[in-house]
Amino acid sequence: MTMNRKLVLPIDRGSPLPIYYQLKEALKQQIESGALKPHERVPSERELEEAYHISRMTARRALEELEAEGYIYRAQGKGSFVAEPKIRQGLLWLTSFTEDMRERGMRAGARVLRAEVVSDERVARKLGIGSGEEFVMLQRLRLADGEPMALETSYLRRRFCPGLEGHDFTDRSLYSTLQEEYGLRLGRAEQAVEAKVADGFEAELLGVKPGAPMLSMERITYLDDGQTPIEYVRSIYRGDRYKLYVELKRR
Ligand code: GLP
Repeated sequence: MTMNRKLVLPIDRGSPLPIYYQLKEALKQQIESGALKPHERVPSERELEEAYHISRMTARRALEELEAEGYIYRAQGKGSFVAEPKIRQGLLWLTSFTEDMRERGMRAGARVLRAEVVSDERVARKLGIGSGEEFVMLQRLRLADGEPMALETSYLRRRFCPGLEGHDFTDRSLYSTLQEEYGLRLGRAEQAVEAKVADGFEAELLGVKPGAPMLSMERITYLDDGQTPIEYVRSIYRGDRYKLYVELKRR
């Protein structure tokens, strides 16, 4: 295969920056500017090696880092391709995964891993309620147009939504079920975000490598009275597919 002709990457051998890094940044710039489009093939290790007279190791490192950061994906035996841009997740509104996906013209889905009644002292403490209360625990792999995006583990206070575990959440929104079946209106949530790396279990489910970057979010959701906690959720979103967005105003 011939090397993409429009791709002439600036590499400066006199620069103190390592060559692999220059190559990586140059490819990144081509992707961000749209010169390389989603699903377009990017040069292989061998092509980079030949075109820029660099070692195979250098070319590999540039491509590996671009992959880890979500700029490219590799298809076994076919080469590397430009990834879709990351999903930009606003942090201002209390929305559901289903609503977020619908807004982007994507279809939300889930693989339900667990739906059961549990007691969990740690969760009760987080919600500031009595430790005897039961929860409906729902663990779902969230899909966007069939692609795994996040692993979500939600705990709902059972006394507000008895029988919730009996619904099939494969194609169904939790938030609309709470509203439509139980008349529960959500008012607000508190959410914290932190970085983490994927463990083996998460990596396998989400189709990433163990150690891949993830966004870990913890949410406590309250009813529309603003003070009755109803849900505790831990969500682990793919760091290569998601970026968080918030608008800041100057004080
Ligand atoms: C988002 C939030 C979760 C919430 C979920 C509900 O993904 N991170 O905290 O539980 O939405 O989604 P849905 O109503 O689509 O089931």
